[in-house]
Amino acid sequence: MSAKPTEDPLVNKALPNGILPPNFELPYPDKPELITANLLKLFDLTPDPRIKFVMKNLVNHLHAFVNETSITTEEWMKTIQFLTTVGQTCTPIRQEFILLSDVLGVSALVDAINNPPVKGATESSVLGPFFTEDAPDIEQGGSIASEGKGQYMYVEGTVRSTDGTPIPDAVIETWEADESGSYDTQYKDRDHPDCRGRLRTDKDGRFGYRAVTPVAYPIPGDGPVGELLITIGRHNLRPNHLHFMVEKSGFRKLVTSLYPDGDPFLSTDAVFGVKKNLVVKLEEVNDDAEARKRGFPKGGSFKLLKYDVVLVPLDEAKAALEEFSKQRAKNAAA
Ligand code: BEZ
Ligand code: FE
Repeated sequence: MSAKPTEDPLVNKALPNGILPPNFELPYPDKPELITANLLKLFDLTPDPRIKFVMKNLVNHLHAFVNETSITTEEWMKTIQFLTTVGQTCTPIRQEFILLSDVLGVSALVDAINNPPVKGATESSVLGPFFTEDAPDIEQGGSIASEGKGQYMYVEGTVRSTDGTPIPDAVIETWEADESGSYDTQYKDRDHPDCRGRLRTDKDGRFGYRAVTPVAYPIPGDGPVGELLITIGRHNLRPNHLHFMVEKSGFRKLVTSLYPDGDPFLSTDAVFGVKKNLVVKLEEVNDDAEARKRGFPKGGSFKLLKYDVVLVPLDEAKAALEEFSKQRAKNAAA
């Protein structure tokens, strides 16, 4: 008989991490300023310069926030409880922390400073939590949506470089909510992907596919982020949009969305994703023959979204990022 493994009696096990105390002494932190100063001094021990820089900045801003708001003990405990609930709401298919980052504008800001605009190129927008890896490959002219998922829309255009050259064989991932404003992943009984697909541009850089006309929809509101929006008096709607992710080697990866005009939530998008040059016009085509030609099984009318996607070559993207960072540093110093 083999011996039973001894059970560890500790629930929250704490062991020394093996790092020795620093070779300098710090004053006892018996004044608020000394807590900040001591902590900043301890960052001298951080080996990675980028982590040191980012963490020092974070601590500086966090401590300034505590000082400037004179936050009470109760308020801070409430904040910790809120963040705990955000974590506890996360599941393998639900990321409440990303949603928090989205509604606080952090996702949009991180995206904006990492993907600066390049003249003539399609701008980026937030990825959001509803991209999945399991989108089916579709043929040119194929459909990303099963029948009955919404009003017909046909999407067509060319993927080009900033100098106008068409880009063949670019991979386009595209996804959207159905006409009730829900993504397939929000349905409990999801057994296959819907309203999403992957296709490649043809030899002339062209693409075309059937989809459904996007509608505005609320971002998940049944968790702590939804409650936060109610507390601060903000709506939780995203304007109608169609997501794209376009990739081709030698070019900056593009994650974006197109936003048909006329939507009442365009300027107050709950996640700050809309940029002026991503707002598009949909054409209304009332022609049964045209609808059938494009493969819409019931014919009738459809919306037409014509859009040329413009990708940025990597060297241009690098130069744009350097210039943008320089400008921002200059503005910050001014
Ligand atoms: C989306 O567009 O899919 C989305 C983006 C951010 C938060 C929630 C949804
Ligand atoms: Fe979306």
